[in-house]
Amino acid sequence: MPSVTQWNHPRFFAYFACTGSTPAILGEMLAAALNTNGLHWKTSPAVAELEHVALGWLRQWMGLSDEWFGIVYDTASVSSMHAIACAREFVAPEARVEGSRADLILYTSEQAHSSIEKGAITVGLGQNNVRKVPVDAEFRMKPEALEALVQQDVAAGKRPCCVVATVGTTSTTSIDPLTQIAPIAEKYKMWLHVDAAYAGAAAILPEYRYILDGAERAHSLVVNAHKWLLTPIDLSAFYTRRRDILRRAFSLVPEYLHPNLDPRATDLMDYGVPLGHRFRALKLWFVLRYFGQERIQKILRTHIQLAQRFAHLVDADPDFERVAPTPFSIVCFRYKGTDEQNKKMLDTINATGRVFMSHTMLNGRVAVRLAIGNLATTWEDLLETWELLKEAVRR
Ligand SMILES: Cc1ncc(COP(=O)(O)O)c(C=O)c1O
Repeated sequence: MPSVTQWNHPRFFAYFACTGSTPAILGEMLAAALNTNGLHWKTSPAVAELEHVALGWLRQWMGLSDEWFGIVYDTASVSSMHAIACAREFVAPEARVEGSRADLILYTSEQAHSSIEKGAITVGLGQNNVRKVPVDAEFRMKPEALEALVQQDVAAGKRPCCVVATVGTTSTTSIDPLTQIAPIAEKYKMWLHVDAAYAGAAAILPEYRYILDGAERAHSLVVNAHKWLLTPIDLSAFYTRRRDILRRAFSLVPEYLHPNLDPRATDLMDYGVPLGHRFRALKLWFVLRYFGQERIQKILRTHIQLAQRFAHLVDADPDFERVAPTPFSIVCFRYKGTDEQNKKMLDTINATGRVFMSHTMLNGRVAVRLAIGNLATTWEDLLETWELLKEAVRR
């Protein structure tokens, strides 16, 4: 297909590779055919109810308690933007009526996804009020640096508002230390949001449950099904322990949208910017029903094992080096040459059309990212990729 990049291909290793699985594709088609809009409970009760069921299963599988209320948005960027709006409502409820003053501060690490800063721009905190907390040698937020920045801001008369910690950063999949960040957020009465857009799915594995240690003290968390949960773009699961704050931040009901219903029914329009609510949860429900917890665990483990094996290849080759730990299914590495040579290597292998990979910058140097997330990826695909890389540097 000309001009269509095959994101569903087993050798698509760029960004966060993801599988649009068959059940999810059918769920997507069915949602389009039904064309329901779940803005109110009564406008299609199944939309709200099935979303509740599917997000409840995912929550339980990730080991989160039933304190968490879930809602589906399109992307993690939008989920985190809603979290930042909640933070504003939590710390500065007057802002809903009066607008933000320029004194609310958001803290996130230097390695956080750009969507966090965009969220702060959109919600009106302003880019100048985003603090990028330094990271340690393994690209994790330094809690002591976070607290020092907060103290400086308090001394300067600012209002610390929100901390966004990342579980699985975009460049290297590093894990911010939630158990140390949560007490700081509590001490300064800030909203704590966890961006687990990619790696949150790994918490479905008992041996990876620890990645969400401390998340039970956070106020909100996002995990994308369209990253590592077999679901085609888009589906972002947003959870909050403060459903009341989310509602307070976003509910605005004109007469023509009065639900006239039992107040216990969830009207999804009250929990976010969009009025209309697509039946996105149907495809996630299909995925969770079709694969089941054990099969999903097996798939995640396979991806992690493939990444570990590839990391060993890199480590064993004197011409290459790994430039970050490999906790999940992403391997960050570079050819031991110049940035230009690394960029050329990447361009060369991508130009073959056999494989697609992307890059990042780490400690001022170009690093290549190999992201595994496709159901059909095999060890042979990785061996072929490795050969292509070595051939590209020999040229
Ligand atoms: C950690 C993290 N957060 C947020 C995002 C944004 O995701 P989305 O495209 O769903 O907005 C990404 C995308 O890669 C990400 O890696």
